Amino acid sequence: MLKTDKLNTAVFVSGGGTNLQALIDAEKNARLNNVKLALVISSNINAYAIERAKSANIPFKVIEYSTLGSLNAENEIVDTLKEHGIELIVLAGFMKILSAEFTRIYAGRIINIHPSLIPAFCGKGYYGLRVHEEALRRGVKLSGATVHYVNEIPDGGEIIMQKCVRVQKGDTPQVLQKRIMERAEYVILPKAVVIAARKLLKERIYAKN
Ligand code: GRF
Repeated sequence: MLKTDKLNTAVFVSGGGTNLQALIDAEKNARLNNVKLALVISSNINAYAIERAKSANIPFKVIEYSTLGSLNAENEIVDTLKEHGIELIVLAGFMKILSAEFTRIYAGRIINIHPSLIPAFCGKGYYGLRVHEEALRRGVKLSGATVHYVNEIPDGGEIIMQKCVRVQKGDTPQVLQKRIMERAEYVILPKAVVIAARKLLKERIYAKN
């Protein structure tokens, strides 16, 4: 891997990329400290997130799972990460499940944002609006977002940061989703990325000595 004083970070996306945008804005405003957004990987050629990467001059790559199959897709991802000297991976609305082997190769180097307070409404099948539909169905008064490390268990890795958001009377899943994104996701994701990067950079310093 290439060694720079900033940690080369890749953001994996599949859709709108508003969390990617929150990271791009944080980097512009010097809130990402030792993190450099060095690559965007999209599993979807039509993802609007790609436009955001282009506008921010971040290299991007589309990985076609449907034509490659999961194994080849992951091999291509690994090659691309090596090419760009990536040391930290941020899953921000990435709609593919990474294999256990991939999560082992990058142990401690992959983080994910999930739109609930883990361990509520998480794991297999809990993605997108489903998370908020279920939160409303159960009548929770508080929901929120979680950033956590990724291991072989879906949404099961160590929690880095969480933020609560109040559920309000009359909320629809869409309204709750928007409030959680604006008040929790875009706030904690840049902070959690800095925390994860700081830890890796420290390990790098210790490894040198
Ligand atoms: C977010 O709600 C995130 O928590 C979840 O997927 C959504 C992605 O939205 N993992 P965007 O692509 O960042 O706009």
